[in-house]
Amino acid sequence: MAVIMMRLDKYLADMGVGTRTEIKKYVRRGKVKVDGVVVKSPEVKVDPNVQKVSYLDQPVSYEKFEYYMLNKPAGVISATTDKKDKTVIDLITEKKRKDLFPVGRLDKDTEGLLLITNDGELAHRLLAPKKHVDKVYYAKVKGKVTEEDVKAFAEGVSIGQGEMAKPATLEILVSDEISEIRLTIQEGKFHQVKRMFISVGKEVVYLKRLSMGSLVLDENLPLGAYRPLTREELEQLC
Ligand code: URA
Repeated sequence: MAVIMMRLDKYLADMGVGTRTEIKKYVRRGKVKVDGVVVKSPEVKVDPNVQKVSYLDQPVSYEKFEYYMLNKPAGVISATTDKKDKTVIDLITEKKRKDLFPVGRLDKDTEGLLLITNDGELAHRLLAPKKHVDKVYYAKVKGKVTEEDVKAFAEGVSIGQGEMAKPATLEILVSDEISEIRLTIQEGKFHQVKRMFISVGKEVVYLKRLSMGSLVLDENLPLGAYRPLTREELEQLC
């Protein structure tokens, strides 16, 4: 295991114990121990893989990366901060790291699977168009979805503003006044699913993401709830 030494105040700030300024005060006041011994210099270097850090005698373990599966509810936005609306990051109440972000964006009214992490490399692998990662959506659509729509989506449709959607797999679950479908796409253009249906003259009235690559929404997670990824989920994604 590579030895990566880091400053004690950065270690504690990364783990959400406080701001760097607050932490410096805590350390100088003797509230922090390293391997059971009070350390009063915030600049002391520690090895997170080996040394045990505690704050007010509570162990603070170091996590470089955090990974959460969120069942995003409608009404919250896929951003890290917002002046007006609640964000998906606000929903992760037990987070340690301050640098979490959502992997890709779901519209404010879209529900379902959202991966929240601070692992930029993994996010890139899941989002880069060249990686062709499947994203599967369930939708309710106004009007009868037809086999013609299936063919059009399989060929690729024009979604306006000079953009084309790449070939996608559309499965009709119910074809009625309000149809129900499952759609698999490998891109993540702005409002992509809604724009694909607009291109065939139909309107998405409900949208939920079911999966992203190997990661499948845990149906036991109520809307707005989250949980850390399991080891298996993480291994498959990586
Ligand atoms: N496509 C959309 O139109 N909206 C989403 O939130 C995700 C995909």
